[in-house]
Amino acid sequence: MRIAVAGATGRIGQLTIASLQDAGHQAVKISRRAGVDAYSGDGLADALRGADAIIDSTNTGSQDREQVIDFFGTVTRNLLAAEEEAGVRHHVLLSIVGLDKNGRAPHYDGKREQERLVSAGPVPWSIVRVTQFHDFAAMVAGWTQCDGVATIAPLLIQPIAQADVAAVLAEVAAGGPLNDRIDVAGPETQDLVDMARRTFAARGQDITLVPTWRGVFGPDMAGEVLLPGESARLTSGTFADWLAAGAR
Ligand SMILES: NC(=O)c1ccc[n+]([C@@H]2O[C@H](COP(=O)([O-])OP(=O)(O)OC[C@H]3O[C@@H](n4cnc5c(N)ncnc54)[C@H](OP(=O)(O)O)[C@@H]3O)[C@@H](O)[C@H]2O)c1
Repeated sequence: MRIAVAGATGRIGQLTIASLQDAGHQAVKISRRAGVDAYSGDGLADALRGADAIIDSTNTGSQDREQVIDFFGTVTRNLLAAEEEAGVRHHVLLSIVGLDKNGRAPHYDGKREQERLVSAGPVPWSIVRVTQFHDFAAMVAGWTQCDGVATIAPLLIQPIAQADVAAVLAEVAAGGPLNDRIDVAGPETQDLVDMARRTFAARGQDITLVPTWRGVFGPDMAGEVLLPGESARLTSGTFADWLAAGAR
């Protein structure tokens, strides 16, 4: 099959391109660094010509609510319009487990907008909701890290290996549209503060962690909000494997 990946130069996108190629598919790269801008729409029509399916793993680094919603909304509308024009029959969206249960982080508002547009859109779809990646704790601590101190919420998550995310995306894209959402998670529940401690220890970094619910993640994210549903598909890569491999 010919399968396009929007966000092809990103962390998940690169691994997804490799998974598709390993499975014998032709992978088409969509990203500004690959010469295609999904926000302005430049180059999309050419990139999608002859494609059977597309996987959207784009991302924005913005933490501004309006900007995040505008980015994910505009990119999704542009992709769906170009797919309809090109006759692409399957749109696969990478999303986040628990998205409809939790609150106020701007990123989640953008992802909800993506899911709304895709599930109401003109192209048959599959939404693959995955849990947080293994480097999530270090990323969250990095948002506030200053002079060797960082705050972090004691979230419960069931983290997943990025390579496992890519493999599932490639497999779902090559199958028929589900017109539904699926949850995909790693094998074990973890506490985010403990994950951050172990990550920094593995990286040889001395960071003091201050647990709090007063940052980006508030008490609305406590409990089992971010854990997968009982019917979730579980993958095999563990957090301990990732630490042992260098925590990068
Ligand atoms: N981190 C987590 O724990 C987690 C958990 C669950 C789900 N997710 C989801 O995973 C997704 C991918 O994350 P990631 O870490 O792989 O992202 P990333 O490494 O930041 O990659 C983002 C990709 O988007 C592309 N992009 C940005 N603007 C674009 C534009 N205007 N046109 C075309 N491409 C554009 C970038 O390429 P260029 O810069 O070359 O354009 C890059 O390839 C996100 O949507 C996130 O919500 C993350």
